[in-house]
Amino acid sequence: MSFAAGPTSAEPTENHTEPTRNDPGPAGETPVLRPHAEIAFASELTALAAQDDRPRPPNWKLSPWAVATYLLGGVLPDGSVISPKYVGPRRIVEVAVSTLATDRALLLLGVPGTAKTWVSEHLAAAVSGDSTLLVQGTAGTPEEAIRYGWNYAQLLANGPSRAALVPSPVLRAMAEGMTARVEELTRIPADVQDSLITILSEKTLPVPELGQEVQAVRGFNLIATANDRDRGINDLSSALRRRFNTVVLPLPASAEAEVEIVARRVEQIGRSLDLPSAPDGIAEIRRVVTVFRELRDGVTADGRTKVKSPSGTLSTAEAISVVTNGLALAAHFGDGVLRPADVAAGILGAVVRDPASDRGVWQEYLEAVVREREGWTDFYRACREASA
Ligand SMILES: Nc1ncnc2c1ncn2[C@@H]1O[C@H](COP(=O)(O)OP(=O)(O)OP(=O)(O)O)[C@@H](O)[C@H]1O
Ligand SMILES: [Mg+2]
Repeated sequence: MSFAAGPTSAEPTENHTEPTRNDPGPAGETPVLRPHAEIAFASELTALAAQDDRPRPPNWKLSPWAVATYLLGGVLPDGSVISPKYVGPRRIVEVAVSTLATDRALLLLGVPGTAKTWVSEHLAAAVSGDSTLLVQGTAGTPEEAIRYGWNYAQLLANGPSRAALVPSPVLRAMAEGMTARVEELTRIPADVQDSLITILSEKTLPVPELGQEVQAVRGFNLIATANDRDRGINDLSSALRRRFNTVVLPLPASAEAEVEIVARRVEQIGRSLDLPSAPDGIAEIRRVVTVFRELRDGVTADGRTKVKSPSGTLSTAEAISVVTNGLALAAHFGDGVLRPADVAAGILGAVVRDPASDRGVWQEYLEAVVREREGWTDFYRACREASA
């Protein structure tokens, strides 16, 4: 059975749902807010493909080496610069990429904000040239989202037929030898999760209504993400877990690494929102990262003072959004330079999730740590004002 995108002469296509395939669209079309990775980084992917003379697994757009280079960044022999997407241990990326070249699926696990979704999108973009074959896991994800559904008008009019079948992104990935993605796997009810077992172990999906099956084409694999801290988690059954290689994405090892991640992402996001870049913003970024890390770790950077941790997670992702919001404030209501007052309100919002318990934690940190720190007077004052 074929699920190739776009019309083919052999198949009626009027009821095809092709909602998410990448199409840059005709020139002059309204630009999208957030292009998919394979569009946003198309020139890097093209440069890599042109220089990549290593063997590619069946249906892969790049060799595993080139996929890892795409994620970690580097300079190609012809001088093309590949920007780093993931900042972290090289080995993690190598294990993730090589897993995709085997018959085991890849599970990216970690606390919130450790770039699981980000890495999964870029891996799919580099391996298959398409990161959009995506199932978003929720407590309400039905089996149809992983297997297939039906177009009921067609089904009633003509009975079960290929034209009435609505393939899930996973089924399309199987039929086309591509990378499928399942986000937040552990939010999906356990019995629905288990519909992945046959797909991952037998590499086939029976469609009893048509008396057919869809066998996965070489190149098919699946990347799932899950975070181990959120509420509403359904454990992975051990049968399903055995089908995955698990790669745990860690929090950034050092403050400097985290500052680099935040600065890089803020720069990219700011560009896509047309915010002016903040040449002097790095000091403020460093401050946000320091505050987040100290509150997260429960101790100051010098290891001398214990502090209490607030209830929410203060991830790198939150630091990115605090700084981005600060930049927007600076651009629209300030002089364009990121200042303490621009990040103070955002930090307060990120730290105080539960007003009852977190406000005290924040006040204590502010008075015991921020107030005493050399060079932080402006920041202390801005935070006091924001908290008032
Ligand atoms: N080590 C890292 N390298 C590069 N970017 C990172 C890193 N850690 C976090 N980020 C950035 O943090 C942002 C959030 O990441 P992402 O949404 O992928 O997190 P997540 O692990 O999927 O979180 P959640 O569990 O909440 O879904 C992304 O913009 C990503 O670029
Ligand atoms: Mg995610």
